[in-house]
Amino acid sequence: MKVIVTGAGGFIGTQLVRELCQRGTLALRPSGEVEISSIVAADLCIPEESRQGLPDWVSFVEADLSTDEAVDSIIPKEEDFLLFHLAAIVSGDGERDFDLCIRVNLEGTVKLFEACRNSRGQARLVFASSLAVFGGEACPPVVGDETKPLPQTTYGMTKLAGELMINDYSRKDFLDGRAIRLPTIFIRPGKPNAALSSFASGLFREPLSGVDFELPVSREQGVPLLSYRKVVEAFVLAMECDGEALGDDRTLTLPSRQYFVRDMISALERVAEQKGITLGKIIDQPDPLVIKVVEGWPIGTESKRAEALGMSADSSVEEVIEAYLEDFHEVSGQA
Ligand SMILES: NC(=O)c1ccc[n+]([C@@H]2O[C@H](COP(=O)([O-])OP(=O)(O)OC[C@H]3O[C@@H](n4cnc5c(N)ncnc54)[C@H](O)[C@@H]3O)[C@@H](O)[C@H]2O)c1
Repeated sequence: MKVIVTGAGGFIGTQLVRELCQRGTLALRPSGEVEISSIVAADLCIPEESRQGLPDWVSFVEADLSTDEAVDSIIPKEEDFLLFHLAAIVSGDGERDFDLCIRVNLEGTVKLFEACRNSRGQARLVFASSLAVFGGEACPPVVGDETKPLPQTTYGMTKLAGELMINDYSRKDFLDGRAIRLPTIFIRPGKPNAALSSFASGLFREPLSGVDFELPVSREQGVPLLSYRKVVEAFVLAMECDGEALGDDRTLTLPSRQYFVRDMISALERVAEQKGITLGKIIDQPDPLVIKVVEGWPIGTESKRAEALGMSADSSVEEVIEAYLEDFHEVSGQA
């Protein structure tokens, strides 16, 4: 079966495409195992690192997926297909540019879902949502599938709209969708992105590369984290699960573990010492915009429904740092 991944040039999309290539099959419930016959990796831009080493049954489409033409070019007209929708304007850019965030995250997602609806093939899809759907004064510190979402950013609002559309398009049988709410995913290799949570990767990545890092939040800040390996596994499990069995709520809040920044730094120092890595310095440089938004975020997740499907959190920060060094040692330069 054909698989389409939007946002395939991004951090998670790149890892997801690699994982799908390695697996070669997906165990779709309740219908059974399907072979992945081809993958369409779509993004505004797909850098060389995201293409390297992939088999020739992966094709790349560089296009603006908020346009009808681009959406039309990637959604099959006749055959059944699987779609992972990750392309998005992330939180920081969304706060800076309201119109862009609405165009890509809201209008682009509607176009994509409409193309799925209009296809004669059956579309099964996973939508990447975010814990940014939660917020506001009444937001509890630990959130889950039963917590009232109340986004405090344009980005979070567009993600909540995507979740609601998944429920309604699935109820109407226009597609078979599910949404997963991602906590902050770490450790992003390469360059930082414009997410307001980007410090949660930077504080590992830059010091590991011997570069000083300006920490924009307090060391007492708690952050719910999940590794890129675990989130890729969650995307696969979400695609494989039986959408009908999710009932009338097709959104799953992913498991995470809450870490305080100070504990993340201690874990980093422990791993660096063990491996003989000389770390760049971490310099406290509070950024009021980042602090305001991040302080409003929940610090933990309650994820029984996701866990029942086999999704799980990492066992320690150290384990994630070691996996990062193993996967991206050329990027970090010192493994
Ligand atoms: N990484 C996290 O911590 C995190 C947390 C919560 C939710 N998410 C969600 O997971 C998904 C993937 O996140 P990521 O960290 O890989 O982000 P990313 O920024 O690395 O990737 C997103 C990709 O979307 C692409 N994109 C943006 N506008 C586009 C357009 N008009 N047409 C085509 N492509 C476009 C970008 O080029 C980028 O490669 C996103 O939907 C994000 O909102 C991520």
